[in-house]
Amino acid sequence: MLPNKHIIALSAAVLLLANVTTEKGTALAQSIPSLKDTFKKDFGIGTALNNAQIEERDPQMTEFIARQFNMATPENIMKSALIHPKWDTYDFSMGDKLVDFGRKHNIKINGHTLIWHSQLPSFIRGIHSQDSIRTFFTDHIKTVAGHYKGKVFSWDVVNEALNEDGTLRKSVFLQYLGDDYITQAFRLAQEASPGTELYYNDYNNEQPAKRAGCLALIKKVKEAGVRIDGVGIQGHWHVGKIPLNDIEESINQYAALGMKVMFTELDIEVLPRNFQGADVGQRMTANEQSNPYAAALPDSVQQQLAADYEALFKLFLKHKDKVTRVTFWGINDGQSWLNNWPIRGRTSYPLLFDRNNQPKPAFYRVIGLKKG
Ligand code: XIL
Repeated sequence: MLPNKHIIALSAAVLLLANVTTEKGTALAQSIPSLKDTFKKDFGIGTALNNAQIEERDPQMTEFIARQFNMATPENIMKSALIHPKWDTYDFSMGDKLVDFGRKHNIKINGHTLIWHSQLPSFIRGIHSQDSIRTFFTDHIKTVAGHYKGKVFSWDVVNEALNEDGTLRKSVFLQYLGDDYITQAFRLAQEASPGTELYYNDYNNEQPAKRAGCLALIKKVKEAGVRIDGVGIQGHWHVGKIPLNDIEESINQYAALGMKVMFTELDIEVLPRNFQGADVGQRMTANEQSNPYAAALPDSVQQQLAADYEALFKLFLKHKDKVTRVTFWGINDGQSWLNNWPIRGRTSYPLLFDRNNQPKPAFYRVIGLKKG
């Protein structure tokens, strides 16, 4: 064992080192432009937040978030498995912390999500009657949306209800409640939380067939006299393959139905994948080629990523009258879900900030659209 004085000296040295890096981090965080300020006249800039960030475990990170973003979506904690763990038990502890975080730092919260086929509470698997599913569905929306009435700015009321061909996904809700469940979800959310904006959210809903299904879904809700305020295009895309034309067409068509258009989970995958989209149930098996940039991202890919982000933000700016928010799915590359999906333990580089929270070339290209 080390004698005490050595331990003290050692901890002092570690602390000193920590301070140096921290001060550097803070200085840099304050010297770089702010995304939310740069685009303040155009649209909101959001991020997904994880538990550590919501609990403000790292003050530098909190400061960084407050400087860069004015909107936030919880990455997991408001999903039904977490917020409604047992039939008659709700756990609002983390969600309430998020609401406090938003108040304190002037960040609007988008609740994510009330009705989704994934990350459902485990007790759902034991339910096999229409009555019980309807009771779960109704109680869940009323209780959760009711609890956050006046506290969240918006809700992703229904998430990922569509198949790629535009038909409705065969979720437990469709199976037991029929295709009217979507309208019903919006109706219940509106009753429980009248002042909150209500959205439909999905991935690949910029693709023509899925977009057609999404437009039909929106029309159906509206025709029933139920409020729907906007549509979220998640935006989990691939480097060098951003479907800019489909995105532009989608912005126009959704806006023509009176929808606010949002990009709600933006990230750009640089790693190999044999399918498009973000079906969390889909997985891939690893092989020698699946994690090519474990050491570093080659400059050519870094530049392509930067060009892709620039092109996207250029398009968002062109349609700033229709696009109300752009939310990144995470703050920096180290925290992205893409390091673990659809293969665990890869090294991905999908965001504007690197693993040390330093801005990447993509960040400067996006900012440059307003400065140049
Ligand atoms: C992801 C989270 O990022 C992961 O931490 C979690 O393990 C799975 O879900 N579409 C959505 C998001 O609407 O909720 C998903 O988030 C990503 C795809």
